[in-house]
Amino acid sequence: MNFPIKFNEDFLGNSFFSSLLPRSFNCLPLLQGKASPSQFARSMCALKFARTFKSTAFRRYPLTIDYLSSLDVRFTNIIDIGCSDGSASLDALRRLNFNCYYLTDKNINLYCHELNNAYFVFDSCGIPLLRAGRRLTIYNDSNSPRLLNFFITKLVFLDSLKRLHLNNSLLLINPCILSLQSGNVRILSYDVLRKPFLAKSTLIIAANIFNDSYFSEHELKLAFSNVIKSCLPGALICLIDNRKYESATIFQFRDNKISVKHHIGDGFSLSSFFLECAKETNS
Ligand SMILES: C[S@@+](CC[C@H](N)C(=O)[O-])C[C@H]1O[C@@H](n2cnc3c(N)ncnc32)[C@H](O)[C@@H]1O
Repeated sequence: MNFPIKFNEDFLGNSFFSSLLPRSFNCLPLLQGKASPSQFARSMCALKFARTFKSTAFRRYPLTIDYLSSLDVRFTNIIDIGCSDGSASLDALRRLNFNCYYLTDKNINLYCHELNNAYFVFDSCGIPLLRAGRRLTIYNDSNSPRLLNFFITKLVFLDSLKRLHLNNSLLLINPCILSLQSGNVRILSYDVLRKPFLAKSTLIIAANIFNDSYFSEHELKLAFSNVIKSCLPGALICLIDNRKYESATIFQFRDNKISVKHHIGDGFSLSSFFLECAKETNS
């Protein structure tokens, strides 16, 4: 269960007392349209869509990119699944050789409007996500205590819903990535639970997305099966974990089988489960 009301960390400061309080990242620079690339990436960390946070950072998995670039391969297509605003992908975009790099995420935009000095944020279907103010961030979180969530929906979001304009859309892609967008860097909305990706690839990167707090076992099976079905023969699948230190496993798809090619740190925590799903998908 989550407590849905948090203090904006920039309002709280860094005293010992304030470190005990529930805090959220400050997403105001993003919503006000005046975020620098680093503020943009930081603002992402405050955004939560259903169970998944859009948290990201620059140079988030340097050892994995060192390894992939050491292979000295030109990848036909790279699919980056759940790339958030693309900040973490910048390293890969700069250092890997590819014909086409697809930056993809299910939640690639949001709607937002200002009301009484606060910003109200909605997903692409118009579902309220949060209210961001100078002092507080209030989440519309179905995992929060029920009664509290009921009052938040009625008192905080009801009025703002009436003012929702589905033309105030904000693209959740970092400005430094937008400047790289070209014929061979494409940004697409893609839900890995729905189907395999439209273009088969020789490298799939999925960082800090596949874990059991974001997805159920059934969803993970579905996602892994779609990942495997998006591979060309010989493709590498690089699954990276969200932990205190970088841990990843690079798998290879060959002869309709998946095998482990390389581990970084402790490896991807759901490696065995991924290999089991691969057997089912390929049988
Ligand atoms: C924690 S962020 C990781 C971002 C980035 N890969 C990184 O390592 O910094 C997880 C991302 O997965 C995206 N996501 C959640 N469900 C998804 C789905 N079904 N298909 C594609 N992306 C999804 C979220 O929108 C979010 O941006």
